[in-house]
Amino acid sequence: MARTRSVLGLDIGTHSVCAVELTGSGDDVAVTGVGWERIPSPELIGDTVLAMLSENNLKTKNVVTSVSGRLVIVRYVNMAEMSPEELLNAVKYEADKYIPYSVDDVQLACQQLGGVDQKNQTRVLLVAAKKKLIEDHVAMLKGLSIRPTTIDVDFFALGNAFELCNLNNRLIGEGEAIACVDIGSSKTSICIMRSDSDCFTREVFTAGSSMTNAVAKRFGEEAKDVELMKEDPGDAIEAMQESIMPVLEDIGSEVRLSFDYYENQFDHQVSKVFLSGGSIQFPGIVENLGGIFEVETEAFSPFEYLEIATNNDIVLHEKAADMVVALGLASRIRGM
Ligand SMILES: Nc1ncnc2c1ncn2[C@@H]1O[C@H](COP(=O)(O)OP(=O)(O)OP(=O)(O)O)[C@@H](O)[C@H]1O
Ligand SMILES: [Mg+2]
Repeated sequence: MARTRSVLGLDIGTHSVCAVELTGSGDDVAVTGVGWERIPSPELIGDTVLAMLSENNLKTKNVVTSVSGRLVIVRYVNMAEMSPEELLNAVKYEADKYIPYSVDDVQLACQQLGGVDQKNQTRVLLVAAKKKLIEDHVAMLKGLSIRPTTIDVDFFALGNAFELCNLNNRLIGEGEAIACVDIGSSKTSICIMRSDSDCFTREVFTAGSSMTNAVAKRFGEEAKDVELMKEDPGDAIEAMQESIMPVLEDIGSEVRLSFDYYENQFDHQVSKVFLSGGSIQFPGIVENLGGIFEVETEAFSPFEYLEIATNNDIVLHEKAADMVVALGLASRIRGM
């Protein structure tokens, strides 16, 4: 039997740092801590992480964190069935077919997804992250005396958070395909899934900062002032909604392209979208994106589905949309 332990999911974004602590064993876990802090400027990321952990009394040493962005490449490829060791060797040997970097410059991981087809082929998930990206991330954390036990990728965390909340199909019918879409500041992460084998992930680099820039252009304001306007739009709300609409259309068409790909590949329609990320807090975004996706869309509130054993109500309620990736990172506890 798995023993009780705690894991801290630490999501270091470009706009905010978030943490979720899960405690328990196997699937029986409770949220025992949460934290959120805005990053005032890029040089202060380390200080912000330390302040957020100390203010929220988050002391667990078992930390799962993530990397993401253009230096993380994910491919889904078909290969002959083989053992995990043979698979990694085969992928390394053929890596230049799939990734635009030298195999020596990347950390490679791969996993067989699902079963084998009639031609003895299996679907393989291949993740290649630039070594320098991981080394810089680990060095930054080491400077804060944090030694992560696992380094994940944001869009996998998104899917894992959903799976944790959806135990026993609480959120969707069995066999339904859904999409989790997290709109942060620098990127929109997409994870479409139905089962372990029918999974597709992607990142699009249009998100909250593109909305900020669109509003800044319209109002002739500095981006940092628009950040404050976004949180308290007052009478400017309609003009702001109008100026971010083209950005929502861009995000929407990329998400729809991913749906089309998924539906072609797996012959299943995406039936529901669960939205998260700081950007969905702007009034009207969830409804507008639902209209663009042409699929039922809701804001994902993960803490409604989990046992809560912390009284940090402000973060739990006001920042729930931001916390999904951190929750998904912590959900690695299920396999520990
Ligand atoms: N209350 C709010 N109303 C409107 N927009 C908001 C609000 N709070 C945050 N945002 C926007 O959400 C975005 C930040 O989202 P989030 O905290 O998820 O980003 P991040 O995870 O740090 O970024 P990334 O994952 O892209 O590196 C910013 O563009 C910010 O302007
Ligand atoms: Mg993020």
